[in-house]
Amino acid sequence: MKKKFIFMLALLFSLTMVLSACGSSEEKANKEKSDSKDSKKTLRVVTAAEYAPFEYMENGKVVGFDVDLVKAVAKEAGYEVKVEHVGWDPIFVEIEGKRADFAASAITINDDRKQSYDFATPYFLSTNKILVKEGSPIKTGADLKDKKVAVQNATTGQSAAESILGKNSENIKKYDAIPLGIMELKTGGVDAVVADNTVVEEYVKNNPNDKLKVIEDEKAFEAEFYGYLFPKGSKLTAEIEVALKAVIDNGTYTKIYKEWFGVEPDLEKLKAQQ
Ligand code: ARG
Repeated sequence: MKKKFIFMLALLFSLTMVLSACGSSEEKANKEKSDSKDSKKTLRVVTAAEYAPFEYMENGKVVGFDVDLVKAVAKEAGYEVKVEHVGWDPIFVEIEGKRADFAASAITINDDRKQSYDFATPYFLSTNKILVKEGSPIKTGADLKDKKVAVQNATTGQSAAESILGKNSENIKKYDAIPLGIMELKTGGVDAVVADNTVVEEYVKNNPNDKLKVIEDEKAFEAEFYGYLFPKGSKLTAEIEVALKAVIDNGTYTKIYKEWFGVEPDLEKLKAQQ
């Protein structure tokens, strides 16, 4: 009888052990789940929303190709996202100070920037082009030599202009945003604007009354790729890269691209860079 009692007690004991072990591992799993849910926070993505069609303000909201793509990529990675306009120069300050998770702003991947920041793999192929008035004598990059040229400060457009006019040329007029340079072109303050092809092409298309045209010079200006800009060493870079790749592979990228540009993207060229 006594033996039976001890046996029952032992059984009860081991049973509670097993159950409590079960409980605790279940609790642990739940906790991990909610922890990882918490860590899937809202990403703060910064941009300079004066670069249509990539990012611009419409009814107080940041919209554009970059915005739609970032939303799709963040969703794929399991994050909420908030895209915030801070302006071009402040982007780099925000990322350097790790106050934003990354920047999406038609930012060209180059060696200079790679020294201070990390980039995710390319998501867009671009090149600088020249915007002039119809009837302008400017026909090539070299023709800019003695002309006044507007660029956005600290962009590859500025470097492109410098490669022709010289690094310290006073004829390079630097603006905080390209629309200011275009205004200057229209009023005759400068002879040309150098900026990313899609931006100037879109401007001409949407403003036929301005009588401006775009000049391409593949020899003067090289191909560039846009990438998302991260604080150096950010763990998020790899995660976003995986999500971007998925969004490209599953057709979402093509859908967004077509919505904004009306044509198919050159996925082969893009993937060759991944
Ligand atoms: N692609 C050029 C660069 O990275 C210009 C980008 C300007 N972007 C903008 N949102 N204003 O230098």
